[in-house]
Amino acid sequence: MKKLIFSLALIAALIGCTRQMPEQPSIGEIKLNLPSVPFDYSSVNTIQGKIPVLYEDGSIINNKKATIGRVLFYDKALSFNNSTACASCHLQEKGFSDVVQFSAGFEGLPTKRNSMPISNLYMNRKAGYFWDTRESKIESMVFAPIQDHIEMGFSQIDLITEKIGNLKYYQQLFKDAYGDEEITTDRMRESMGQFLFSIVNVNSKFDKGIATGFSNFNIAETNGMELFVELECDKCHFLHEDFSLDGSKREKLANIGLEAENRDKGKDGLYRIPDLRNITKTGPYMHDGRFKTLNEVINHYGFGVQNNTHLSDELKNRPPAHNFDSYTGGKKNDILAFLRTLEDENSLTDPKFSSPFAK
Ligand code: HEC
Ligand code: HEC
Repeated sequence: MKKLIFSLALIAALIGCTRQMPEQPSIGEIKLNLPSVPFDYSSVNTIQGKIPVLYEDGSIINNKKATIGRVLFYDKALSFNNSTACASCHLQEKGFSDVVQFSAGFEGLPTKRNSMPISNLYMNRKAGYFWDTRESKIESMVFAPIQDHIEMGFSQIDLITEKIGNLKYYQQLFKDAYGDEEITTDRMRESMGQFLFSIVNVNSKFDKGIATGFSNFNIAETNGMELFVELECDKCHFLHEDFSLDGSKREKLANIGLEAENRDKGKDGLYRIPDLRNITKTGPYMHDGRFKTLNEVINHYGFGVQNNTHLSDELKNRPPAHNFDSYTGGKKNDILAFLRTLEDENSLTDPKFSSPFAK
């Protein structure tokens, strides 16, 4: 009896201390649905013709590397217990954001912030990644969710490459893209980065407006755009000289969201200015997902902005004509009409950004 109790205790202790690596998905069951000629990630059609899609360093996206990135993005094997893929919290049809305030990680625990949309990373690359801009390079950023103890829980990098390296369907893909089958963290980082950078939205009504002097806008949309400038939304959600929405000017980011290490610099509580493309699809809104609808966001700017020591100058001491109190129903609807012109369905529906895993 003593022996039995001892061995039970031992088993319990073993279960408690060692976190067994869960079984790998069986290769025979997994089928990838990839085109024989890779999709084109390297260029995009716009109203002004075909333009190249650029990686962080300014080079043109490589179709074969982006293809690997697509598979990785949708692969649950990247999480410790095969439960969670990047795509679990970044849904294509929602502008690659999530529909809930906080997403569920690999063990069901909630993330600390609202999942961010993925869009036009090249345009926004200088702002820094994540709500607090804590990562400045995409290739260092992409492993953060995999290693995060809430998101995917794979703390040891060498275990990930070993696991991915054992999955047969990757070997040919890496050979095609890199010349041999070797799967390294650097190659994984690069191919994931290439896929993320290939997700571009440059075909919204707003983008077409840039090319046509906004002759495609109706009255509400035109009024809304004028209000956006009049109310100085564009001081932060930057409308470029060429009128592209661009968060890349770091110095413009008065409210860079800041991690603990920056706390003593008095910037705690400030967050990155999000890109507003496909904003109609990417709710809940704000870093903490506190607003469910765009209406609530607009009301917040109209009446709800609370003064505090971190509030940026653009939002306080506003001249009366620019005060958000000037919002009325009609004006709110105009702003909403303008925000809707930022929708670009292409990346939300294009199969090249969808799951390659056959159901
Ligand atoms: C459990 C949910 C979850 C998973 C899984 C997840 N993410 Fe995220 N993602 C988030 C959240 C939440 C944020 C915002 C985090 C922050 O700001 O601290 C985010 C932010 C990002 C951003 C920043 C976008 C920007 O503009 O700065 C990128 C890119 C991204 N994730 C890519 C990925 C990739 C690639 C994977 C898979 C390796 C992944 N995510 C897995 C929830 C998730
Ligand atoms: C002082 C800079 C600043 C000004 C001015 C400003 N915004 Fe923002 N905006 C931000 C920041 C920063 C966030 C993210 C805040 C957070 O996550 O808590 C944001 C978030 C948003 C969001 C939600 C984005 C998302 O993905 O969750 C919308 C929509 C928005 N702003 C629209 C507007 C409109 C419309 C105006 C003008 C009435 C405006 N903003 C004025 C900085 C600004």
